[in-house]
Amino acid sequence: MEDAVAIVLAAGGGERLGLPTPKAFVDLDGRPMLLHAASAALACPGIEALVAVVPSGWERAASDLLDVVGRHTVVVGGSTRQASVRAALDVVPPAAPVLVCHDAARPFASAALFAAVLSALDGVDGVVPVVPVADTVKRIRGDLVDRTEDRALLALAQTPQAFDALALRDAHARAERDGVEVTDDAAALELAGYRVRTIPGDPGNFKITSAEDLARAELVATELARG
Ligand code: CTP
Ligand code: MG
Repeated sequence: MEDAVAIVLAAGGGERLGLPTPKAFVDLDGRPMLLHAASAALACPGIEALVAVVPSGWERAASDLLDVVGRHTVVVGGSTRQASVRAALDVVPPAAPVLVCHDAARPFASAALFAAVLSALDGVDGVVPVVPVADTVKRIRGDLVDRTEDRALLALAQTPQAFDALALRDAHARAERDGVEVTDDAAALELAGYRVRTIPGDPGNFKITSAEDLARAELVATELARG
C-alpha cells in the first residue's frame, strides 16, 4: 500500500488523566506520547506523511517534536475527537488514497500494526484492529442488571485504523450532517454502510486514559527500553 497519510489525534486535554499538560504531550520514558505514536506511524512502509492534530497553543511544540521523525503537518483540533478528525481531513492532501487514523493515547502501537491494517484494506473500506473481551459484560439499567451479553460476539476496538480516503471523508461528512457523535472512525463508516474489516489487535497496544494506565505504561516502557 503506497502513499498513505497518518492522522495522529493528539488534541484531547486528557481530563481523566488529570495532569496540567495535554495527555499527548505527557512524557512516557522521556518522550511525549505524541512522539511515540508518530514514530511508529512513520516507521511503517507506505505511510509517507503525517498530520498531527493538537490543542490550540501546542502547534509549535508539536512541530518541533515531529521535525525529527519525518514529513508532517500540524493542525489545531476541535472540541471532540470527531471534530479533530475533521480538522485533519481539511489539510490532508486530497490525492492521498488511504488514511490511517491513530490516537496518540496509544503510544505502544507498533509499526507492524500500522502495516497490518494497511495490508488488510484490500476489498473493504476500513480496517480496525480488535482484541477479545476478557470480562463478562452486563447490560445495565441504573444499578440493575438487564442481561449478560454474549462476549463472543463482542470485541474491543483499537487504533490505528486504515481507511479508503473517500469513504472516510464521506462517512465523517454524513456523521456531521446527521449530528451523530462517534468515538472512533470505524463507527462513522459502519453508520454510513461501508464495509469495515477487523484484524487481530495487540493487547500491548492499550489506551492511556487514567493515572493507573500511565503508571502501567511507564513500567512497560521501562521494560521495553531495557530490551
Ligand atoms: N482527541 C482529539 N481531540 C479531542 C478529543 C480527543 O484529538 N477533542 C484525541 C486524544 O488526544 C486521544 C484520542 O483522541 O489521543 C482519544 O481520546 P481520549 O483517550 O478520550 O483522550 P482525551 O479526550 O484527551 O481524554 P479525556 O477524555 O480523559 O479528556
Ligand atoms: Mg476524550
